[in-house]
Amino acid sequence: MKRAMQTKSDRLKALPPYLFAEIDRKKKAAIAAGRPVIHLGIGDPDTPTPDFIIKAAQAAVADPATHQYALDRGDARFRGSIAAWMNKRFGVTVDPETEILPAQGSKETLSHLPLALMNPGDVGLVPDPGYPVYTSSVQFAGGKVVRFPITADRGYLPDMAAFKKSDLKKAKLIYLNYPNNPTAASATLDFYREVVAWAREHQIVVAQDAAYSEVYFESPPPSILQVDGAKDVAVEFYSCSKTFSMTGWRVGWVVGNPAVIESLVQIKSNMDNGVFTAMQRAGAAALEGYDRPEIHALREMYRRRRDCLVAALTAAGLEVNRPEATFYVWIKCPAGLDSRTFADRLLTEADIVATPGIGYGPHGEGYVRMALTVPEARLEEAAARIKRLKF
Ligand SMILES: Cc1ncc(COP(=O)(O)O)c(C=O)c1O
Repeated sequence: MKRAMQTKSDRLKALPPYLFAEIDRKKKAAIAAGRPVIHLGIGDPDTPTPDFIIKAAQAAVADPATHQYALDRGDARFRGSIAAWMNKRFGVTVDPETEILPAQGSKETLSHLPLALMNPGDVGLVPDPGYPVYTSSVQFAGGKVVRFPITADRGYLPDMAAFKKSDLKKAKLIYLNYPNNPTAASATLDFYREVVAWAREHQIVVAQDAAYSEVYFESPPPSILQVDGAKDVAVEFYSCSKTFSMTGWRVGWVVGNPAVIESLVQIKSNMDNGVFTAMQRAGAAALEGYDRPEIHALREMYRRRRDCLVAALTAAGLEVNRPEATFYVWIKCPAGLDSRTFADRLLTEADIVATPGIGYGPHGEGYVRMALTVPEARLEEAAARIKRLKF
């Protein structure tokens, strides 16, 4: 008998089940049926990229110098702008030649990091709940995923003393993500100090995902690189996606430990030929315009939306943490409902898409996440619909 053509690797088959599939199917059916769906499921800004960035990109696209492969470590101007911004924003000094790598958003390098660092059987420590990409990336590299809980009672910061010795011995990498998706928690500089000391002791690379660093409403969140000696153990991942409403553009960067950056350069040069130089120039223009009123206005818009949704959901009887950063609201399920049932009822009874916490890991159970990526009036409408439900 002829063997069947193989169209799926064991690596893909081993991925955890996609827990949002059922919600996705019902959402599509509701939209197809013409129902007035309010989509609070995805963290993708609804406002256009600011005009000054679009203009810079248009000029860059028209310049033939951007039309060839963007090899090596990326555009020198972009790296220079990143170094200047890191210095202005965090007081951190980084070498644009060896400590910065432009990337296609933050996801590209977050997902390639285990390939760069880990051997099969090595352990990757992954937050639970957490952005699902960390888990799949460790698995793709043949690593073993060890999840660590982040829970409300500790402000969603992990207990660094709670890891098992046997896991620490095999761990090559820990992912952290502050400000956090999905819980909206922020980290303090003291916490980062503890993490850096811990990582030094156990010789584990810290990958701190700062994709939401600029979506904040209280004091600006710190960088792990502000800790003395952090560059010995840490890399931090940044993105233009959320800060500048640029998710589709695919512009971000990774910054920190030069040996880790070097390994990522090696992976990248075997996977692609760099980020389109015109997009890197757009990234440079975005960072150079970081203080412009348009960017402050985006933050203020999310603040108003946050205040609106939190107040309305609280009035509707739900338990909600008021996020200090990110554009997510992490909402406790009403008593007796698990996260999939609650999300399913929000969709079928109120035409609201929210993501069930279990999709981010077992410790996400008991919560749903809503994204502040629709206008205030829609958020108010969503809360009014929820108020009418009986749980
Ligand atoms: C925690 C976190 N990290 C990284 C990303 C990836 O963003 P990008 O690749 O657009 O920078 C996302 C996107 O939603 C995210 O939620």
